[in-house]
Amino acid sequence: MGRVLIVGAGGVGGVVAQKCAQFPEVFSEIVLASRTLDKCERIRRQLSRPIQIDQVDAGSSREMTALIRKHAPDVVIQVALPYQNLAIMDACVETGVSYLDTACYEPPDQARYSHTWQWKYDEPFRKQGLMAVLGCGFDPGVTNLYIAHALKNHFDEIHSVDILDCNAGQHGFAFATNFNPEINIREVTAVGRYYENGQWVETAPLSVRQTYDFPEVGPRDVYLMYHEELESLVKHIHGLKRIRFWMTFSQEYLTHLRVLQNVGMTRIDKVLHQGVEIVPLQFLKTLLPEPSALGETYSGKTCIGCLIEGVKDGRIRKVLIYNVCDHAASYREVKATAVSYTAGVPPVLGAELMLRGIWSGAGVFNVEQLDPAPFMERVGRYGLPWKERFLDDDAPTGWKA
Ligand SMILES: NC(=O)c1ccc[n+]([C@@H]2O[C@H](COP(=O)([O-])OP(=O)(O)OC[C@H]3O[C@@H](n4cnc5c(N)ncnc54)[C@H](OP(=O)(O)O)[C@@H]3O)[C@@H](O)[C@H]2O)c1
Repeated sequence: MGRVLIVGAGGVGGVVAQKCAQFPEVFSEIVLASRTLDKCERIRRQLSRPIQIDQVDAGSSREMTALIRKHAPDVVIQVALPYQNLAIMDACVETGVSYLDTACYEPPDQARYSHTWQWKYDEPFRKQGLMAVLGCGFDPGVTNLYIAHALKNHFDEIHSVDILDCNAGQHGFAFATNFNPEINIREVTAVGRYYENGQWVETAPLSVRQTYDFPEVGPRDVYLMYHEELESLVKHIHGLKRIRFWMTFSQEYLTHLRVLQNVGMTRIDKVLHQGVEIVPLQFLKTLLPEPSALGETYSGKTCIGCLIEGVKDGRIRKVLIYNVCDHAASYREVKATAVSYTAGVPPVLGAELMLRGIWSGAGVFNVEQLDPAPFMERVGRYGLPWKERFLDDDAPTGWKA
């Protein structure tokens, strides 16, 4: 039915390729392109059906334009790094192809991610009659769709959302990041930020901690962080009074991170090392295990969801919507961790909905602006079933004192 170009052959790219290969009736042809051809080849060897592979520097819109012209895809799924989003969107506008990604653009030299850069592409995409879907991973992505689903089906108005991201798995390495180390460490070391009563409130990095009792996982410490979907959800979910994002970290991870920060290894500016300019965080990335290499030894589960409060017919209502994903089961199915699995499945379903014309429109869209129903109906079959728990007035919400 459609030809897909996947950009990025990392942990998430591997899952996207595997999942596209599972649905030949949707993705009749698959091209996987990345900076290192060997990594595409490694993924190709794991697949049950033939795909094409290619080499590209996706940060160059000229190279991306040539790649798109060569393979003539119907949709581009961008799962390389967020730094390349704008160059790929430029190439999509130039060649007239729709676009979908899982993380919003951030400039390499500033740890500041924001949708504003990509929202500016609304006009060029509109003019070309093309669709760009932003942030269609798990968080952002599925969590935004949980909120859109809740608003459509359970609430007249949503007042408060806590997005809760728990990885209760163990990979056996002393220190490793679950997705790209550079992007992960930039995100985790950033100032915390949440939205309350019309204002953004800043907190020192990882300084706010609470305990949440996750379904199927149990109580875990969660830390307040800024995350990109807060920006788009505040814009698109009217009536929202508060939204926060929380993530779990092990003490082992936090101790290593503190030491790395203290010695300057997480810096993103250039330093002179033996006459050569290097960025310490990029050097650290070279030393750390690649996310795609963690799966084999991983055990345990992830639980990611949204605790949503609001009103329905004048009464307060609370609901928790969540998914639980098992690391070992993900590895058995697609040779990846549950973190790569939860991030890599949603863009494939998003691309299917675009190819089928179920999600349609011209311009740039965050996923909460699209109809959640077709996504929520299918996502279980794709491997990410969801549950919702209605919490009566006095039912515990999961927060622990
Ligand atoms: N929304 C979500 O839920 C969610 C969750 C996790 C991750 N993500 C996003 O998914 C993306 C991929 O994460 P990951 O864990 O798969 O990272 P990863 O394993 O580091 O993979 C990144 C891939 O992109 C390739 N790449 C980097 N720069 C490139 C360039 N200039 N041109 C072409 N390819 C390039 C890398 O190639 P080399 O190996 O040759 O460097 C690598 O294959 C990230 O943007 C991340 O933010 C989203």
